Amino acid sequence: MKIVVLQDYSSLSKHAAALVSEFIQRRPAAVLGLATGSTPLGLYRELAGMVRRGRVDFGRVTTFNLDEYYPISRTNPQSYYCYMRRHFWGPLGIAPGRAHIPDGNPADAAAACRDYELKIRRAGGMDLQVLGIGINGHIGFNEPGPRLTAETHLASLSPETISANSRHFEKAADVPRSAITMGLGTIMRAREVLLLASGKSKARAIGETIRGGLTTAVPASLLQAHPRVTVMLDREAALCLRRG
Ligand code: GLP
Repeated sequence: MKIVVLQDYSSLSKHAAALVSEFIQRRPAAVLGLATGSTPLGLYRELAGMVRRGRVDFGRVTTFNLDEYYPISRTNPQSYYCYMRRHFWGPLGIAPGRAHIPDGNPADAAAACRDYELKIRRAGGMDLQVLGIGINGHIGFNEPGPRLTAETHLASLSPETISANSRHFEKAADVPRSAITMGLGTIMRAREVLLLASGKSKARAIGETIRGGLTTAVPASLLQAHPRVTVMLDREAALCLRRG
């Protein structure tokens, strides 16, 4: 794992944007895996600015999102679908046919998960996967537990995740209890991974991800087994990495 510690969130976002834009300049038709949540917002804003200034072109890029709440409709402003339209697909000019996210309201969830996995494989898998991390070490919505699932699946959210994500909803009762998420195998097959974390609340999870053993109790720790991972942190998220 390559660990990069930046002064603050703004610098983290700029460094992450430089890495992603250089990646796209090298591979203009790349397949990107994308995360939602607060952490990548600065990265997406920086990239949108670069696109506006004509510094990078995402016109040939294909994107797959990690996850979507279940059940949720695409018109719900809290859906990851709306988030992506507003913060990424729209500002970066990703054509609808190239922008993929699990359907949060499928008639048959198991079939929808199989289809999503198949679409990713048909696109050749992710060239670069952007990840955030939950305070309990989850990635996508792969929550800690006795076992993890390899492929895209319907997952139950842990009480910590429901409580952390309730800040985006009017009340905790509105937070969906389930989500459709890429599995650990889907994520680990990405050729390159960029994991971002900002703030004290992520410090423990980051310490366990990088310094602990590989364990299903911290799903992100499995990334230690991936050959090309960059972890970009601000100083607060890196607090548990200090030696001594
Ligand atoms: C959610 C998402 C994750 C994200 C995590 C952290 O649970 N499913 O993909 O990484 O929250 O979010 P935030 O960046 O808002 O802390």
